[in-house]
Amino acid sequence: MKKFVTIHSFKGGTGKSYLAANLATIYALQGKKVCLLDMDFRAPTQHIVFEPKNVKRWLNDVMNGNAEVEDCLIDCSEKIENKGKLYVGFADFSTEAIRDMISKGRKWETEALQRILVMRKDLLEKMNFDVCLADTSPGIQYSSINAVVAADVAIVVSTLDDSDIYGTTKMINELYEVFQKKVAIVVNKAIGGCEMSDLEKSNIVNTLQEKYRQAIIGVLPCYCEVGKMKRASIFAYNHPKHPFTEMLRMIAAKVEIL
Ligand SMILES: Nc1ncnc2c1ncn2[C@@H]1O[C@H](COP(=O)(O)OP(=O)(O)O)[C@@H](O)[C@H]1O
Ligand SMILES: [Mg+2]
Repeated sequence: MKKFVTIHSFKGGTGKSYLAANLATIYALQGKKVCLLDMDFRAPTQHIVFEPKNVKRWLNDVMNGNAEVEDCLIDCSEKIENKGKLYVGFADFSTEAIRDMISKGRKWETEALQRILVMRKDLLEKMNFDVCLADTSPGIQYSSINAVVAADVAIVVSTLDDSDIYGTTKMINELYEVFQKKVAIVVNKAIGGCEMSDLEKSNIVNTLQEKYRQAIIGVLPCYCEVGKMKRASIFAYNHPKHPFTEMLRMIAAKVEIL
């Protein structure tokens, strides 16, 4: 499909990193060449999922202009027993690196946007990835908005918490509108689990569609078994027939045709 997709949200803990790793897995198992980028430099997560050894270059180096993206990608296909091609670019999780990324100013962020645009082109055109998924920090700081600006599609993950809905509405209608982005909303952690009916889901879609004025491409219930799993065990890979994985496959298909 050749797409750079960001996964973003207004608040933290909505499930961005979780969905990013699982969607990357789903696409890879379909035979696509997939790249997952941990661009949440404030709270890196994907190293816990993929447990890379000997990372020589981080995405931080690419953002600082000290490395090319190909230097920092690690082949993590073994995680899915080589049933697909899945590469990951990791964020440096050291305290110094996190502090360094938080302290960047406007000028650096402007340069970083150019670097993300180059990185997108390199990944899709030079390295021939079919899909790149960028996991980002929550909120409206420049680093995340840069990744959104560079994306072909932005997935915004929202829970049903009032404060999340309020912030997400503002973020989409005030910020995303300006960039004219293709936005797809995923509602995650909807209370109901297995018992959630299609009617309940469509009521959620109808209510939120009005506020967000963007397509809602999935409502994922809160499942205890999802929350209980260790990060290092990718749910979609280990539970391919679970309704959560089936819904994620539908979301993946919708993103492809956006
Ligand atoms: N649908 C779900 N049901 C239950 N737990 C979930 C669901 N989606 C995500 N989680 C859990 O929520 C937690 C936070 O997710 P995470 O992806 O780290 O959020 P974010 O990256 O947006 O901060 C993780 O422990 C994850 O297992
Ligand atoms: Mg995260």
